[in-house]
Amino acid sequence: MSKTFQRTLITSALPYANGPVHIGHLAGVYIPADIYARYLRLKGEEVLFIGGSDEHGVPIALKAKAEGISPQEIVDRYHYIIKKSFEDFGITFDIYSRTTSAIHYKTASDFFRKLYDKGEFIEKTSEQYYDEEAKQFLADRYITGECPHCANKNAYGDQCEACGTSLTPLDLIDPKSAISGSVPVLKETKHWYLPLDKHEAWLKKWILEDHKEWKSNVYGQCKSWLDMGLQPRAVSRDLDWGIPIPVEGGEGKVLYVWFDAPIGYISNTIEHSPDDWEKWWKDESSRMIHFIGKDNIVFHCIVFPAMLKADGTYILPENVPANEFLNLEGDKISTSRNWAVWLHEYLEDFPEKQDVLRYVLTANAPETKDNDFTWKDFQARNNNELVAVFGNFVNRALVLTHKYFEGKVPARGALNDYDRATLDEFKRIRQDLEDCLNQFRFRDALKEAMNLARIGNKYLADTEPWKLAKTDMERTAAILNISLQIAANLAIAFEPFLPFSSEKLKRIINKKDLNWNGLGSIDLLGADHQLNQPELLFEKIEDEMIEKQIQKLQDTKKANNQNPN
Ligand code: MF3
Ligand code: ZN
Repeated sequence: MSKTFQRTLITSALPYANGPVHIGHLAGVYIPADIYARYLRLKGEEVLFIGGSDEHGVPIALKAKAEGISPQEIVDRYHYIIKKSFEDFGITFDIYSRTTSAIHYKTASDFFRKLYDKGEFIEKTSEQYYDEEAKQFLADRYITGECPHCANKNAYGDQCEACGTSLTPLDLIDPKSAISGSVPVLKETKHWYLPLDKHEAWLKKWILEDHKEWKSNVYGQCKSWLDMGLQPRAVSRDLDWGIPIPVEGGEGKVLYVWFDAPIGYISNTIEHSPDDWEKWWKDESSRMIHFIGKDNIVFHCIVFPAMLKADGTYILPENVPANEFLNLEGDKISTSRNWAVWLHEYLEDFPEKQDVLRYVLTANAPETKDNDFTWKDFQARNNNELVAVFGNFVNRALVLTHKYFEGKVPARGALNDYDRATLDEFKRIRQDLEDCLNQFRFRDALKEAMNLARIGNKYLADTEPWKLAKTDMERTAAILNISLQIAANLAIAFEPFLPFSSEKLKRIINKKDLNWNGLGSIDLLGADHQLNQPELLFEKIEDEMIEKQIQKLQDTKKANNQNPN
């Protein structure tokens, strides 16, 4: 089971370009993916980290219609906002592209064409709702009506948002077209289906037997899909926004968004490395990891692998560490209800505090169950952990070294038993940290990194070099030397999680070239190495700042209650 791989392709779900990104996106997908990419790069491994916007699908077409502009204008608006948010938060994609790129159109179109030519699809004709006024077939989302379960009058043809039930358009009572308002009629239409039932046997073995190590939430969801039995899935839609079906009879039809979007990972790899993209996708010595949220599990663990297998020349994902959802102050995050902390707004209110949010979202990541973000917890973690432990320790070590040794790392004489006990504890952290990271347990990994800061903090509190300095300069030197080595270790250990602070810390200790292999060493800073002036790594967040954020959410709630929809 423990295969060794030459390189790792990291993909992160392509967010829909129909709104900006919020803390739920960051916590669920992009921070974990970025931590993992940074960690592997720090270890010197070959990594490619793929991102991009998902720009097709019915909600985007609907939004464009509602605003009276083209879908392309919608995605142009949000693609750049999303891209900038990710840059601002230090998400180190090697490429962030989009599914309206020319390369993607060609890649997705060719992918469909090859499966079609190989006979990997089945064709079926079925009756679907058609709007005679607008002269077009209606996607499930374009039909509204009464929910048969809860009598909500505004249920959609795929789901009732009031009671959460999945629906088909035929379930709706008194269906209406969302385009013209007219009553739709049933009309025959032909579509192409990926016969997942034919893939069921190998999928069962591949997931249920060969990938027992997948996270239990992922494995469990796959198992329940596979136990229910797989059905053919339509990969085309009657829609005018998307990638045209490139075969006979495909006029007026496009690829289903969930067919084209994952192919975006391939297109983006091609765009990034046109000459050697295949080594990432077709070489058994490469491994692919998909970072996604839980609503994407079936597509990444079952549908996309079936597409790749149907092609026959691709590798399959090695792991799919999906997260659950992050809630906000007890309620589900919702773009349409504006119940979210938007990344661009956060940065306006907390400029340069990207790492504080990265820290809190990782410490609270919904790794095994849904989790809640609250502003009080955000404040507490900043003040009690980042400021009081990590920042405080580094600052004391730096200030004391400037006070007693002119900012030069003092030589370390002999160690005593207490030093050795501290270092023993400290050396265990590297292995523990790696074990967590290798298993995608980023919350625990962050805790280990923080433990290192706690060890340092306790060491200084116990040894009190500020008192010893009056009587025993040699001992003071040893203590500060060890403390500074721990500070340098912190710059390495936190790099995947808090890259901005780690960068700043490296500047303060005047040491750029630190990599993962140095972690655990107490010889990172030589005697006489000159440090720079100390600066605070983190600052306290006052109550008013938090009150303001809570007020903002209360205002949103009030507005939502006044015009519910
Ligand atoms: N846009 C989808 C979502 O936000 C994710 C697409 S992931 C990809 O749920 F694999 F299709 F790219
Ligand atoms: Zn309902």
